Amino acid sequence: MDEPTVRTGWREELERARREALAAIARATSTAELEEVRVAALGRKGAITAFLRSLSQYPPEERPQIGRVANAVRDEVEAALDAAAERIGQEEEARRLLEETVDVTLPGTPVATGHAHPLNTVIREIEDIFLSMGFELAEGPEIETDAYNFEALNIPKGHPARDMQDSFYMNEGILLRTHTSPMQVRFMQSRAPDLPVRMITVGRVYRRDDDATHSPMFTQVEGLLVDRGVHLGHLKWTLEEFARRVYGEGARIRLRPSYFPFTEPSMEVDVSCTICGGGGCRTCKGTGWLEILGAGMVHPRVIRNGGYDPDEVSGFAFGMGPERIAMLKYGIDDLRLFFQNDLRFLEQF
Ligand code: DAH
Repeated sequence: MDEPTVRTGWREELERARREALAAIARATSTAELEEVRVAALGRKGAITAFLRSLSQYPPEERPQIGRVANAVRDEVEAALDAAAERIGQEEEARRLLEETVDVTLPGTPVATGHAHPLNTVIREIEDIFLSMGFELAEGPEIETDAYNFEALNIPKGHPARDMQDSFYMNEGILLRTHTSPMQVRFMQSRAPDLPVRMITVGRVYRRDDDATHSPMFTQVEGLLVDRGVHLGHLKWTLEEFARRVYGEGARIRLRPSYFPFTEPSMEVDVSCTICGGGGCRTCKGTGWLEILGAGMVHPRVIRNGGYDPDEVSGFAFGMGPERIAMLKYGIDDLRLFFQNDLRFLEQF
């Protein structure tokens, strides 16, 4: 019968396992390496675990002492593992933070921001000028009746002025409005008999026209003022003030007699050339003047169609194309650029 082999040198064996484990712990630089050390020392098949399992091979009277020493070694290695885990965790955290560092002084990636269309910028500016004078903003339909677009404005069927405004008809008597002037009558009707009537309206209008200075769709701004005792001087001051506000204090205007069926008298209004200041240049074709709008004293028939008595009240009206105002302001030579929405054009403003 074999006597169980009583192993001797257990102290050296334990001390070696302890030293190896502590040295490996000290060398470990990552959580993964540390885990390998833990498995090699304290895992199911680890050196210290194996030693503890082999305690039965020692004589019973020695076991308590050997067990105490072995447990102390296991506790020491466990404590060293915990301390190393803490240290390595902090190192790894510090390394990660360093890698993730953002240099806030680096130039950023520009973010493209939109901005108002140059035509809208000009329209807002025009609206603001008249709003500040007490005019009220109004809006009207783009699909209009022949009655408002022509008849109410003193342009009966067969009137030659209808040829000036080649129209898009949708039906008998229904068309895309050719101008914003029908809003004069619509607005007066909505206000009568109140005074004063002060309206500004901006909107799209449509004509059968297409070249560098004409587009089948374009914009008009229409103004109307009706009250007792309104005369040409009021119109002239209003338009002078408008020109100064858009083109600067030095801007002057001049009135030239013209003809519109819905005003009497009628006039075309020029502003001193915004490019050369009046000396004469290519833009003003050497005249020193640029035509910017049509205007006049509201025709008595139109006043009556609006629901007011032309013997008691009078008024002035004007109409202009903001595209033209913008073209003169920015030096743009093709009207169609406003409607093509080519970013290479729009981004210049
Ligand atoms: N409606 C005219 C056009 O489209 C412009 C115009 C002229 C409007 C004289 C007016 C005005 O209010 O008084 O050509």
